[in-house]
Amino acid sequence: MDTVTLGSTGLRVSVMGLGAGGSSRLGASYDAPRAESVAVVRRALELGVNLIDTAEAYQTEEIVGEGVRGVPRDSVILCTKKSVPRDITPADLRQSCEGSLRRLGVETIDVYQLHAVRPDRYVQVRDTLVPTLLDLRDEGKIRFLGITEYFERDTNHEMLQMALEDNCWQVMMVGFNLLNQTARERVFLHTQRRGIGTLIMFAVRRAFSQPERMRAILEELVAQGQLDPEFSRQDDPFRFLIDGGAVSLPDAAYRFCRCEPGADVVLSGTGKVEHLESNVESFGRPPLSPEATARAKAIFARVDSISGS
Ligand SMILES: NC(=O)c1ccc[n+]([C@@H]2O[C@H](COP(=O)([O-])OP(=O)(O)OC[C@H]3O[C@@H](n4cnc5c(N)ncnc54)[C@H](OP(=O)(O)O)[C@@H]3O)[C@@H](O)[C@H]2O)c1
Repeated sequence: MDTVTLGSTGLRVSVMGLGAGGSSRLGASYDAPRAESVAVVRRALELGVNLIDTAEAYQTEEIVGEGVRGVPRDSVILCTKKSVPRDITPADLRQSCEGSLRRLGVETIDVYQLHAVRPDRYVQVRDTLVPTLLDLRDEGKIRFLGITEYFERDTNHEMLQMALEDNCWQVMMVGFNLLNQTARERVFLHTQRRGIGTLIMFAVRRAFSQPERMRAILEELVAQGQLDPEFSRQDDPFRFLIDGGAVSLPDAAYRFCRCEPGADVVLSGTGKVEHLESNVESFGRPPLSPEATARAKAIFARVDSISGS
């Protein structure tokens, strides 16, 4: 597994990260036995994945904690998050952080993120909570401050535009995939310049794992005037990706993101060891052909209204 440095944090991280949220929540969303979910975490570590992303809201912190138990603490980068309801107080944040530490079974969280912050909440959240995050950092409970966007609704990265104006964030979680590539100009250009590490979500999501969902998304994009109807009318519109070296749609989707300059860690969410193993293989493959990559960029160049969920 290749590694990169996560912005100016200096953390050396695997280019694939394990996501413990999304539709699968390590299998918890479809009632996978807990031992199977723990096995996904352990197998990921065995295969060289060293960054795991979870959240208080996912209710998977304990699974992650069990998965990393016994592993040298400095060999794994743990990221978790706190949701920010309108009435959140600094005391709530502190209490949640301490709960996350307990559930993960560690003394320090490597990247502690404010979760799915909406554009209209950013200023209030920053002003209310950043001082507490800095205190938690000074106390050694967290190492780096992160923020994640609400990509389902904020498909144009409005919140991150604001966060990029401030100096407090070392890590940003960004929605990016083959369909919605707006982060290239709106986020990665700036995070690269500023030394902010990026974690990529939504690489595959439902669009690239459920063919019927992809059909519906393509029709939506045509209706919005963001996609050429000729493309979506084809029987197998994504054939060009397979011709360009991909072994499957999820494979193409992960490899497309992995090769994007400025995309440090691409998160992969699954509850299935066989999907995990096949995704690790995707991250070991070379980029898609230059022709397939250029075509994917051209076809979806105007898309900014969907997340792929
Ligand atoms: N705002 C936020 O902060 C936010 C929002 C969303 C996500 N996230 C983070 O980002 C992580 C990744 O996002 P994501 O969950 O959307 O991940 P993803 O990797 O883009 O998509 C995962 C989905 O694809 C399926 N899948 C994975 N590998 C597959 C394969 N080889 N073949 C077929 N299907 C496959 C999974 O189902 P199976 O279980 O069946 O494999 C799952 O439903 C999350 O886990 C979470 O940590 C953060």
